[in-house]
Parts: sequence; C-alpha cells; structure tokens
Amino acid sequence: MNVPIRFNAQHTLKSAVGDHGLDPSDFDAQVGLDAVVGFRKRVDSGEVGFPNLPMDQNTAKSVEKFASRLRSEVDAVLVLGIGGSALGPYALDTAIRGPHPVQVDKKKCPKLYVMDNVDPGFVSAFLENLNPKKTAVCVIAKSGGTAETLSTFLIVHEWIVKAIGAKKAVGRFVAVTDEHKGDLLAIAKAEKYQTFYVPADVGGRFSVLTPVGLLPAALIGLDIKKLLHGAHDANQASWSRKLETNPALQSALVHHALDTKRGKKIEIVFAYSAYLWGSAFWYRQLWAESLGKRVNRQGEVVHTGQTPVAALGVTDQHSQVQLYAEGPNDKMITFWAVDKYRTEIKIPETKNFLQYDAVAYLAGKKLSTLFHAERTATEAALTEAGRPNCRWVLPRVDEYYIGAFFQLLEFQTAFCGELYGINAFDQPGVELAKKITNGLMGRKGFEDYAEKFGSKKA
Ligand code: PA5
Repeated sequence: MNVPIRFNAQHTLKSAVGDHGLDPSDFDAQVGLDAVVGFRKRVDSGEVGFPNLPMDQNTAKSVEKFASRLRSEVDAVLVLGIGGSALGPYALDTAIRGPHPVQVDKKKCPKLYVMDNVDPGFVSAFLENLNPKKTAVCVIAKSGGTAETLSTFLIVHEWIVKAIGAKKAVGRFVAVTDEHKGDLLAIAKAEKYQTFYVPADVGGRFSVLTPVGLLPAALIGLDIKKLLHGAHDANQASWSRKLETNPALQSALVHHALDTKRGKKIEIVFAYSAYLWGSAFWYRQLWAESLGKRVNRQGEVVHTGQTPVAALGVTDQHSQVQLYAEGPNDKMITFWAVDKYRTEIKIPETKNFLQYDAVAYLAGKKLSTLFHAERTATEAALTEAGRPNCRWVLPRVDEYYIGAFFQLLEFQTAFCGELYGINAFDQPGVELAKKITNGLMGRKGFEDYAEKFGSKKA
C-alpha cells in the first residue's frame, strides 16, 4: 500500500465481539473484487470522475496562482454554499488550521467562514462580524441554482458593494460552478467574476478536491499540492485488486457486511482528534447521501444505507458512550485515530495537588498519553460489550494525509455503492423538497407545488 493510513477491523470479528461480529463466511473476496472492477468501469466510461482529480495539476496551479494574489488583500474568506459545496472547505480548514474558534495561524493567512444556512440570525452575525472591505467571497454551487446559496449571494453582494463600490467588488467575488450551465455561471460571466469549474462527472459530495475545496483551501494558505499528492497515493491503493493492500475495499466490505448481515443500521464515526471533527461532518454527508437509496440499479425497492452519526472523542465519551455500550446493538463504531498530535503538553506536577489521588497519577504525564489511553479504553469497553468497532489510523493530520484519507473514504463509499447495487452518485430523495420550496417561494413553473403544499401550516 502506498499511503500508510491503516484500517483495522479486528474488533468487528466474532472472535472479538461474539454473535454480533463477522466471521470469514461473511466475506466473499470475489464480490469485493467485482466491486473494484464495476467501479473502474464507471470511471473509465466517464460516469464518475472523482478518482481523476488528483491528476489534474493544471487546475491546482491556476487556483493557487489566483489565490496567492487575493489572499494578501483580505483577512476573511467567506464561502457561500451548502452541502457538498460547503462541507469540504470546512473540513479542510478545521483539519489543517484547527477547530473554530481557536485556530493557530503562523502564516497569518485569511480566516475561513462558511455561510451554509439561511437562518437570518446566523447570516446577520456574519455581516456584523466581518469587514466587507477585507472579505473575499467564494460563491459555490455546482448546479448554479441552489436557493440558499443564491439568496446569501444577493445579501452578501449588496453588503460588499455598499462598502467598496460595484467596480471594486468584482475582484472580491469568485464563482465555482458547472462549466456549461446554470444561473450562477451566467451571473459570473455577466459580472466578470473569476470562475473555476466543477467537472460534470464529479458530484457535490465528491468535489472536495475540485476548486470547491481547493480554492477556499488555497485562499487560507493550505498546501493544495500536498492534498492532491495524498489523494493520488490513495488512488494507487484503492485500485489494487488485492484485498490486503486495499483498505478502502476492506472497509467497504466490513461496513456492508455489518449492515446487511448483522443489522448495524447506524455507523458512529468517533473522531479522536478535534482536527477531524469537521471531517466527520463532511463524511456524514458522503455516507448518507450516497448510500441512502430507495431503489437499486434494477429499479427494485431496497431502502439501503446506514445512518451516520458523528461523535467526538473524548468529549462524547461523557455524552454518547452509555448508549453505544448498552443501548440497542444496532450500531457499528468507526474510530478515527491519529498517531502523532500537532503539539504535546505535559500535565504539570504541581506540588500542592500531588496529595490528591485523582490528580497524582495524572501529574507529569503527557496529555497525548491520556488521550490515547481514553480511546484505547473506549474501544476495549465497547468490544467487551459486544459492539463491533473498527479503526482508521492517520499518522498525523496534515494536507497529505487528509487528501489521502478523503480519497480513501470516497473510494470506500463508491465500493459500497457497488456492493449494495445502488447508484451512489445521485440524490433523488432531496428533489421533492426543493421543488416544494420553489413553489412556496413563488418560482415560475412551480405553481402546482405551491397549490398542493402551500396551505400546510407547520
Ligand atoms: O452532493 C450533492 O450533490 C449535494 O449535496 C450538493 O452538494 C448540494 O445540494 C449543493 O448543491 P450545489 O452545489 O448545486 O449548490
């Protein structure tokens, strides 16, 4: 394997967790290999494009060139987007620069803000706290027509134009959208905004390594070349036809078997790094929207998909673990662990406190030793309770490993799509609510929806 991110599924086995675990007869290596071959066909035919992104050095170069000029002019980068057009930038920012609001930034690059909601209080808080004269705005919508993103665009556009004038505002907006269609593309052309494109064969939740994620990342000073390098190495591993060298495939098989053979309908993603908390939310969308499907590729009703739940170690040990250990045994837990933390802190040996039992054994130890012990203990306790759990381990959280990890998780998702026999790349279940919203908001062509659903009071 080219990328040393490890996947360990030992605690999902019957030998570790008893009847709720898997045994060798639950796996068919040939089925796994068929999933790789099946997915490869989709990529080669142009149906799915995310595995090609790490090779697109030209886009990365032009994004970096543009970003290096703009980032010196502003102190905030405001992303207007939602779903796959917002979660990727947020995940990258929090992974590399740290969780909000206590980021350490030695390079003094602009800070990232993500406006991915139309709650009026949330939106006005941005406008009250950011300086319109020092803000760059990335308007991101692959479809170019998302109601939430276009409304916030109108609001932010007015706010910036008022502060710096229409002419100067042009240089502060950059659009990321489809190359050939959509109203955002038309607006960007008319306004002469710098524009970057999302390839047609890359869906929103798989777009973190297109300009959707790369542009905000470059603007806040992340090394996007390293992100792509990591993803490139993850590709090598993920196309392997040998199960033992393909961690994305191993993980897909384990998830699929625990769901379909042991009824683990919920996946807890237990991130043991505050830096991976944003990534857990990115993954939540990837897993849910890709695999939650009513029908399979043959049109039969199947209702597939595990419900992903994000949990943070150690914080949620004191909030969720009681349920995971003793509640319904309908979950699998996936730990996200890290070998090497960003910094080390020693717990002080303060003399006055050493007489207390609850303190004495902690004093003088590294905080990372406690953090590590808590994850190991939680894994052991859940295993003892018969709860199947597996683990991804990143050597550290930096651009290279994050690029690799995200790519592995996207491959894992694609392989699972093949195993379930569903289309992991569409999202028909969200269309009806979008149409009703259009109707309720008076959009031309959606009058029927307004009529049918308009009188319903919440
Ligand atoms: O994964 C997807 O395709 C969706 O979740 C989209 O990312 C989301 O709906 C936002 O779409 P758009 O980028 O067109 O605004």
